[in-house]
Amino acid sequence: MIRIMAVFQKSVKRIGVFTSGGDAPGMNACVRAIVRTARARGLEVWGIEKGYVGFIENLMRPLEARDMANIIQRGGTVLKTGRSAEFMKSEYRKKGAENLALNQIDAVVCVGGDGSFRGAMALWREFQIPIVGAPGTIDNDLYGTDFTIGFDTAVNTALEATDKIRDTADSHDRLFIVEVMGRNSGHIASFVGLACGAEEVFTPEINTTVDKAVEKIMEALKKGKRSSIIITAEGQKPGRAYDLAEAIRKKTGLDAKVCILGHIQRGGSPTATDRIIASRMGSSAIDVLISGHCDLMVGIEKNEIVQVPFELATQREKKTSLDYVKLSNLLAI
Ligand code: F6P
Repeated sequence: MIRIMAVFQKSVKRIGVFTSGGDAPGMNACVRAIVRTARARGLEVWGIEKGYVGFIENLMRPLEARDMANIIQRGGTVLKTGRSAEFMKSEYRKKGAENLALNQIDAVVCVGGDGSFRGAMALWREFQIPIVGAPGTIDNDLYGTDFTIGFDTAVNTALEATDKIRDTADSHDRLFIVEVMGRNSGHIASFVGLACGAEEVFTPEINTTVDKAVEKIMEALKKGKRSSIIITAEGQKPGRAYDLAEAIRKKTGLDAKVCILGHIQRGGSPTATDRIIASRMGSSAIDVLISGHCDLMVGIEKNEIVQVPFELATQREKKTSLDYVKLSNLLAI
């Protein structure tokens, strides 16, 4: 695939960095890598707080290498984050561009997801502000990168919780429906489903029906399985966890318990995998800017760092691994 990269001419002395959208474990490790790589290359770095809110409200301050001490292991984001509806309007983006100029920030690194990257694209197109992104979202829904920062930790958090649910499901011979995050995608659901040994996995991309799930649960009961776990993605349509539980109750009389894992999946200390990809992506983002390229995301494919134009990363759909769901179904006999 041909990937056309945007180039810019101006020399970069001061770089801004911000985290945006839903927080993801590993964002701090990425910010640390951005700040320290930039300092090692002789550039100044300013932190912009609360995502795009900080652009509009001028929440910007200098960051030094030492400010990054002991954050690699911390969940959340020390720069705070936000979702700014205002930034979708050109007048507020103009204000943001003016504040960057006021603080003499020449180029920016954004750690965030697709919505954040769309804001970054607009800043480049409207005001020629060079921006490079590092994919920070638990959803893993950005095209062109095998993994996003925070996904591995979220999967492990959801898995640990689901293993605990399995204990009580097994003790009571119960059926549980566990709903995981992922917005409109089923990446977390398919990974957790395979890893926890789920009896059924529902993701928005797969045509499973409640009827099929009920059929499988009844078959499993006949074979002597006493407890079952269904993993469902929050973006599942029609029917999130409570709807599924109700449908199963109506069809079978079985009391399906529901557990919505929710924001617990966004917190906690990042796994080694997330810390490592965050460090590699953050450091590469600085080198990309130094090379005069922008309007792109730094991703990871087959363990190699790659550059993906924002337009591709945000507009193409990254499909959930159907193989994982198929294997999960095969092993759930
Ligand atoms: O994008 C990350 C994510 O956690 C999604 O999985 C979820 O749908 C959404 O953010 C929730 O957003 P908020 O915390 O703003 O409600």
